[in-house]
Amino acid sequence: MSEPKSSSMDVDVATLRSPPKHVAIIMDGNGRWAKARGMPRAFGHKAGVDALRLAVEAARDLGLGHLSVYAFSTENWNRPQSEIDSLFDLLRMFVKRDLVQLHRDGVRIRIIGSREGLSEDLLELIDDAVRTTRDNTRLTLNIAFNYGGRGELVAAMREMGRMIVAGTLGPDEIDEAMISRMIWSADSPDPDLVIRTSGEVRLSNFLLWSGAYAELMFINQLWPDFTKESLEKAIDAFRRRDRRFGGLGA
Ligand code: IPE
Ligand code: IPE
Ligand code: MG
Repeated sequence: MSEPKSSSMDVDVATLRSPPKHVAIIMDGNGRWAKARGMPRAFGHKAGVDALRLAVEAARDLGLGHLSVYAFSTENWNRPQSEIDSLFDLLRMFVKRDLVQLHRDGVRIRIIGSREGLSEDLLELIDDAVRTTRDNTRLTLNIAFNYGGRGELVAAMREMGRMIVAGTLGPDEIDEAMISRMIWSADSPDPDLVIRTSGEVRLSNFLLWSGAYAELMFINQLWPDFTKESLEKAIDAFRRRDRRFGGLGA
């Protein structure tokens, strides 16, 4: 992890900030994980779903209110069709097989992303999962699927444009709070912490609006190797960060 080494002995407990309310993760590195084992990329994606299960459990155990995970970006359509198919099959399987357990565990599932290009049966499946779990309060799990941060803003702008044409919105009523309410991820507060695994140091079009002031953490682990301990470490490092929001800090 690209954090200075520190142990809980270094900082006075009183100076630790509160844990994040919303952690967002760019789950990257499945392909490299598989390649290192001489296996096809789909094998890495399957291991990635196992790591996702662990991360959801860990987030719940650690008392996070919101967890967002980047599962398929709008740019991922540039991959070979066979890989796209395997990613779609995995989402289908995750939602189908894990729904009962997630519901039992009090997880509210939300899907953030465009519906364009998704098949009717997949849309029905995810709509059903969202509906079934809508009243759960323990953890909100936002699955960013067919998601792009720019596309999210375009969709919000189109909607506001339609409202202006319909006469229900005046241009001066558009402000930051309104845009935050119009985006796909509106049901969760802005993420406090965005983690990317695999060592790549970029956002790849993730949460461009809501992540404006998130703490960013780039971890060298590949996503299938991410564990509860990885999440705990990231949260611990977050709690030692100095967040200033343009001011002079504490
Ligand atoms: C992340 O792993 C999963 C998705 C992007 C869907 P990758 O498939 O990007 O794995 P690498 O980055 O090629 O190792
Ligand atoms: C970002 O990873 C998208 C997801 C994790 C779903 P990518 O592997 O697609 O991003 P790039 O291509 O390295 O930017
Ligand atoms: Mg990648």
